[in-house]
Amino acid sequence: MINFIIFFLIIVNSLLIFFLNKKKIKGLFYKNKIQTVDLNELSDIFINKQIDKNLLGPKEEVIVKSFSINKNNNIVGMTSDYEAWIISSLSKISNKIFEFGTCSGKTTYLMALNSPDDAQITTITLKPENLSDVEKQFSDNKTSFRNIINESIYEKFLFSGTKYENKIDVIFQNSLTFDEKKYNSKFDLIFIDGGHTYSIVKNDSEKSFRMLRQNGIILWHDFVPGKESAKNVVKYINNISSRKKIFHIKNTSLCYYKNNLE
Ligand SMILES: C[S@@+](CC[C@H](N)C(=O)[O-])C[C@H]1O[C@@H](n2cnc3c(N)ncnc32)[C@H](O)[C@@H]1O
Repeated sequence: MINFIIFFLIIVNSLLIFFLNKKKIKGLFYKNKIQTVDLNELSDIFINKQIDKNLLGPKEEVIVKSFSINKNNNIVGMTSDYEAWIISSLSKISNKIFEFGTCSGKTTYLMALNSPDDAQITTITLKPENLSDVEKQFSDNKTSFRNIINESIYEKFLFSGTKYENKIDVIFQNSLTFDEKKYNSKFDLIFIDGGHTYSIVKNDSEKSFRMLRQNGIILWHDFVPGKESAKNVVKYINNISSRKKIFHIKNTSLCYYKNNLE
């Protein structure tokens, strides 16, 4: 009997440890096809300037306008502050910006705050009444599909009513039916952070490759091996990595593609 209780406790504890550390354990078995690089590889603006022989500091281009969201303000689907700073810095040197996935408008607002005065930001998103247009495909991850529903709740954004609103064009449409032809080769910076199902990430990425201009940059959010809701983002990026030079930025969940590498 005592042996049975010990055996039972070992099994229960092992299962508990597995479920509490599921993300980390899955990450250990993940075979990385994407090279992780230092942020400096993305753009020279991130290479620090020498202030003194023992002190390096940020260049002017990466000093940005920013804000933080209090944890009590239960906004869903956001980038970390470090990722937000990277996006803000790239916005300072971008005139035409496109975003898949507006949500609360946190990243859109940062793009508008930091881009040049004459810059234009276009962002596409779903509102609750558009949700019936989105159907789960066979290859789509269930958690990612559920997140689309949970995150498509905003019709006003953090930038609504501010002086930056006139730089922003919000398109309320399913990106799967969005016709990108008039935007071909137009954008300096594209941020892909819309639906995280395979069919949507593939659609948004393929459209982005066509919408990107020479020397432009595409950023993907949520490249997190082992995270259930990011599974399809990781799968898609790995699948196209043999055709497109995509890199993961160290200490972030961001990946990038530059239109001057191939
Ligand atoms: C993760 S949130 C975006 C977060 C935002 N970029 C930020 O960092 O503040 C995902 C957004 O993508 C939108 N979305 C999901 N599927 C979409 C689709 N098929 N077409 C357009 N927007 C979509 C959702 O409505 C939601 O607003």
